[in-house]
Amino acid sequence: MCGIVGYAGRRPGKPIILDGLRRLEYRGYDSAGIVLIEDGVLQTTRAVGNLDALYAAAGANGSQATVGLGHTRWATHGRPNHENAHPHDDCSGRVSIVLNGIVENYKELRAELGARGHVFKSETDAEVVAHLIEEHIGDGLTAAVRATLASLDGHYAFCALSADEPGIVVGTRDECPLVVGVGEGEMFFASAIPAFLTHTSTIIALEDGDVVTLRAEGAQICDVAGQPLVREQTVVPWDDDAAEKGGYETFMLKEIHEQPAALRDTLAGRLREDGVVDLSEVGLDDEMLRRLRRIFIVACGTSYHAGLIVSYAIEQLARVPVQIDVASEFRYREPVFGADTLVIGITQSGETADTLAAMRLARAAGSPVLAVTNLMGSQATREADYVLYTRAGLEIGVAATKTHTAQVAALLLLALRLAWARGVMPEAELKRLGHELRAVPEQVEQLLARPSAIEEIARRYHDERFFLYLGRGMGFAVCLEGALKLKEISYIPTEAYAAGEMKHGPIALLDKESPVVVVADDSPVFPKLVSNIEEVRARGADVIAVATDGNEAIGELSRDVLWVPKCDHHLAPILTVIPLQLLAYHIAGMKGLNVDQPRNLAKTVTVE
Ligand code: G6P
Repeated sequence: MCGIVGYAGRRPGKPIILDGLRRLEYRGYDSAGIVLIEDGVLQTTRAVGNLDALYAAAGANGSQATVGLGHTRWATHGRPNHENAHPHDDCSGRVSIVLNGIVENYKELRAELGARGHVFKSETDAEVVAHLIEEHIGDGLTAAVRATLASLDGHYAFCALSADEPGIVVGTRDECPLVVGVGEGEMFFASAIPAFLTHTSTIIALEDGDVVTLRAEGAQICDVAGQPLVREQTVVPWDDDAAEKGGYETFMLKEIHEQPAALRDTLAGRLREDGVVDLSEVGLDDEMLRRLRRIFIVACGTSYHAGLIVSYAIEQLARVPVQIDVASEFRYREPVFGADTLVIGITQSGETADTLAAMRLARAAGSPVLAVTNLMGSQATREADYVLYTRAGLEIGVAATKTHTAQVAALLLLALRLAWARGVMPEAELKRLGHELRAVPEQVEQLLARPSAIEEIARRYHDERFFLYLGRGMGFAVCLEGALKLKEISYIPTEAYAAGEMKHGPIALLDKESPVVVVADDSPVFPKLVSNIEEVRARGADVIAVATDGNEAIGELSRDVLWVPKCDHHLAPILTVIPLQLLAYHIAGMKGLNVDQPRNLAKTVTVE
């Protein structure tokens, strides 16, 4: 949510900053801006809309400035207009800042600063930071940033420039991401590493409260009191190609096709030859898993759906009670924690504010916390006792795809290890499941390579006004994810319902113009679904079924069938969600929409 890029070097900074913003655009894209220090003067350009508008306003080149900042915004306080776009400056126009996150006490600060004569140009919370720095700028930019921190409440990362110190950029973070990139004779700030990956893969991960002064020659880090700090440099093993579309039309389509690799990497080294799961790298020992009395899963969005899918598997395989909640509800519902309750926070970005807050709450109450995340070193890893990484690689499309299936795979590993540790299932059966799980990436590959009717179905239904998704058990959780995919990128209203519950309401919505997608893979609840499908057909609605290869019954019940390879029903959600991702993708494409940047959304939500 909001992307920051900072540059201090020897090359013209403008194209570097704009390219960095392009790579962070998934974080927010309602407005953007850039500020450069040109001959001792701050030159700021802002534009409403996605980065194309900023490129048009600023032009990609033509400036020799070697120090600057950029920002891509997802509006929290203040509408997405020109005035509210970052960077924000102080009254003198000699200080400029970009911020990600929230300054919670900005109203009080605005009133106090206003009483001292400051004049505000925007409605944002961020602008107060520029004015606070202005009040201390006589001591130099780094000291002024340190002094400003004392006044701020909230969660933020910001970077600042001063026209009086044209060689430096100062940045700081508190519970929002900000990382330093170390180049040769040039240094970077960014909300996320891909912003500068073309230039360097050497990074310095910062801690909350660090104040960093960047010059072309390097970074000086101190704490809020000005005491120097040493932070290690590390080299990230990422490939810059991840931030490119690699021949695909969109990031979303590329990422859908990267699922076999994401799954393989997520399972790699965690399944022994004999099919037994080995999660020793996570540090969860079997004794601890045996003692657990309950599991809470907390997450948001697509990660919540991954959690819901696997909550069924954990209860069915490991016989541990699982409660799952969206993090924004969980954190305020006064949950009852205990030392024998494992709290699992699932967040691909490792940044989602509500999920982090829920994890923090659990830890403070004495429950062990496991983070399931895709981002090494992210905030979630700092809020957790244990970390289980998905290894899906960088995901840029706002609609999550490969990170979702990787989460399901990682959590299924956990379910299998829990069952093993607790001795509640025959070992041979667990080994069989382990072997089947190992085969899933290959099955996904086959599925993606098959000719399918998805595009034809998308063409037929892309103008419909409503889609209903029905499933039972894990299939219901897959429906929630499929329905979310469609609504978020095509803007068609969707509803996902537990099939057995349909006649208690949603059936009233059905008519000939409302296609019904049914996740009907071979599972113990399939016979129950058949009667629900009959109920749908009786109302004249078309049924699009997702079903397991070889299921003869379903063909007669549905207008269309999207087939998936056969596997154990606990693992099937990794396969059944894929046709739903593609259906959403093609419907949105046929409506001419930008699937990588759906309106109003952001990929990382760092505000509650
Ligand atoms: C946003 C994104 C979703 C994502 C959710 C949770 O809403 O648009 O794609 O599922 O946040 O994100 P997380 O990083 O915590 O998994």
